[in-house]
Amino acid sequence: MSIRYALIGCGRIAPNHLPSALGCGMEVVALCDINPQAIDVLLEGLNLSELHVKQYSDYQRMLDCETLDMVAIATDSGSHAGIVKECLSRGIAVLVEKPMALSLADADEMLALSEKHNVLFGVCQQNRFNDASLLVKKALDCGGFGKLSHVSVQVRWWRDADYYAQDSWRGTWEKDGGALMNQCIHGLDLMRWFGGSEITSVSATLANRYHPYLEVEDVGIGFVQFSHGAIGSFEGTTNLYKKNLEERITVIGENGTAVLGGECAQQIEVWEFSDPAIEAMRDEVGISIQSSVYGTSHGRVYADFKHALQRGSQPTVDGRCGRDALELVLAAYKSHVQKMPVSLPLHDFGTSSMQL
Ligand SMILES: NC(=O)c1ccc[n+]([C@@H]2O[C@H](COP(=O)([O-])OP(=O)(O)OC[C@H]3O[C@@H](n4cnc5c(N)ncnc54)[C@H](O)[C@@H]3O)[C@@H](O)[C@H]2O)c1
Repeated sequence: MSIRYALIGCGRIAPNHLPSALGCGMEVVALCDINPQAIDVLLEGLNLSELHVKQYSDYQRMLDCETLDMVAIATDSGSHAGIVKECLSRGIAVLVEKPMALSLADADEMLALSEKHNVLFGVCQQNRFNDASLLVKKALDCGGFGKLSHVSVQVRWWRDADYYAQDSWRGTWEKDGGALMNQCIHGLDLMRWFGGSEITSVSATLANRYHPYLEVEDVGIGFVQFSHGAIGSFEGTTNLYKKNLEERITVIGENGTAVLGGECAQQIEVWEFSDPAIEAMRDEVGISIQSSVYGTSHGRVYADFKHALQRGSQPTVDGRCGRDALELVLAAYKSHVQKMPVSLPLHDFGTSSMQL
């Protein structure tokens, strides 16, 4: 089955998308960016200038002119909702970059459209496909950890004024969000996935310490309560001095401990279990070398999406997983504003209600 594919948004994360689509045999029909130069830069950077592909600066025109099975959306976060809704309403499958939206109202509308039109809808939370993440999940699923005590996430990265000055959308409530929404959301996604039960409440405090020219938080710290009794903690920051330190995820159970570390939680740093069979699983994962904090798992996201299209069911990391991660960030934001814990499920919050 040929999959007719287009990419909307050809900026920094686009080099992780286009080769992934080509690599799993999709037919790349069109590329779209409001800035036509971005398409040239993308193709040149990938040595794909000869690729025969249509180019558009208006995504609606592209959708009118092309017959597409799937669209990937990698525009600024604030524009995801409108574009996703348009594509889903036209019956085109969508893979959108994280965060899927900046409000739960938008996320719920997207999910409803995907259901109404029976269209596949996935969110690019690629770290779920990292070998190290899959191994932790496997150990959890076969009971290797026993009763969980807690899960903790620390995303400690460095982003300076030059980073935020790259684009006007960065570091705004309307189009981005802060360290928790932009940088920490992958770690929060993994915490929720590993936690293995509903989260019932979230409390958090945010601050902007070193980026006074931004509206948003550059550090956010909080706690979650899982319904099975385990707890979780998270810290997301862009305040490290001069370089990224780590993305660390620790899972502590009565029969085992796992710590994922490295720049984007791709390395297994601790793997200790009472059951020798679980202990031995460690050898299934080699040393993972990452060239950037984006990791290398976009290709796996695409392979999974292609498989989902072929079998006609939702991808592994579907819109609901995207909403779960978004809900967690927005609950942390709401908790900061209200200065009290927030109960989940959360129905009604978005970054437009935010202030520090
Ligand atoms: N999964 C990850 O690890 C990861 C990593 C980086 C970025 N992201 C996400 O990807 C998205 C893009 O980030 P980026 O760093 O590539 O941003 P970017 O600003 O470098 O690129 C966005 C591109 O979208 C284009 N664009 C904006 N509105 C458009 C529209 N209506 N139609 C067509 N093109 C449009 C811009 O001109 C720009 O070229 C963000 O949501 C970000 O959070 C995800």
